[in-house]
Amino acid sequence: MATVGVIGAGVMGKDVAITCAANGYDVVLVDHDSDVTSAVPGQIRGLVRKFRMMSPDASDWKTDDILGAVRATTDLAEVAKADWVVENIVEDHAAKERLYLELRPLLSDATRVAVNTSCISITKLGALLADPGQVIGIHFMNPVPLLGAAEVVRGFHTSDDTVAQARDFVGTLGKKAIVVNDMPGFVANRLSHLFMNEAAFLVGDGVAEPEQIDAVFKLGYGHKMGPLETADLIGLDTVVNSLNVLHEEFQDPKFRCSPTLKKMVAAGLLGRKSGQGFYSYGH
Ligand code: NAI
Repeated sequence: MATVGVIGAGVMGKDVAITCAANGYDVVLVDHDSDVTSAVPGQIRGLVRKFRMMSPDASDWKTDDILGAVRATTDLAEVAKADWVVENIVEDHAAKERLYLELRPLLSDATRVAVNTSCISITKLGALLADPGQVIGIHFMNPVPLLGAAEVVRGFHTSDDTVAQARDFVGTLGKKAIVVNDMPGFVANRLSHLFMNEAAFLVGDGVAEPEQIDAVFKLGYGHKMGPLETADLIGLDTVVNSLNVLHEEFQDPKFRCSPTLKKMVAAGLLGRKSGQGFYSYGH
């Protein structure tokens, strides 16, 4: 059975691990924080229960089978023999850079590396490994098991073979691969962060309440979720980090982060994961 090494067991890492396990892969889920890895089994139980209720495709998922296929560990070396490594650590260039330098001596030629990032350059991270050709971006959408597409991002040196293997891998997870070229934010986040950021400016300027802003998007434009609900789902800290990357990379003031978002993150209001963001989530 093919093995996927998933690095980072936060919002995305757990979803990616569950999706891979539900589709027949053995998963090693690595996080550097042992409190995070010990919480993984309980959190996977809760997430699988939720996904079973939310999607007919997940209705026959067996919690015990998925738990049996995912092993959480703090030991990065355990990804060495994986067929795919999917990296999902924090959206911070320096942190990702340190991790890729640690990964460099561990990986074999056969392992393909998928960067799951909102905005960070695949080309820059690929350059840190011995063979940048084996590195590609797979930008999974949140919540991973429920959404039918992933942006597959070709870095400057990504090989054609890695692109083909990424298409296959994403296909085995029941998703359509949309192959795009490397540029900060790719397609999804370059667009969506403008909406989320401007919506936060609207709140800060007192133009409208979050419910009203999201209602305009949902009822007016037919989107499933509004920009502030989406920001809460992603995590406001991740949104701020991504805006900072976009701002720095493009040197364009349109990506400057709203002070409202910065203030909320400083106050610990991170969205769903902390129980409070633009909305409250009673947990
Ligand atoms: P998160 O903050 O929820 O989780 C990050 C995890 O990485 C934490 O558990 C942390 O302990 C772990 N970590 C940090 N440094 C590490 C290291 N050196 N080794 C091992 N583990 C380490 O972040 P989230 O939201 O899961 O995002 C992860 C990546 O996925 C980011 O690059 C983000 O931009 C991207 N992304 C996020 C989406 C979202 O909706 N949250 C959607 C698509 C992509």
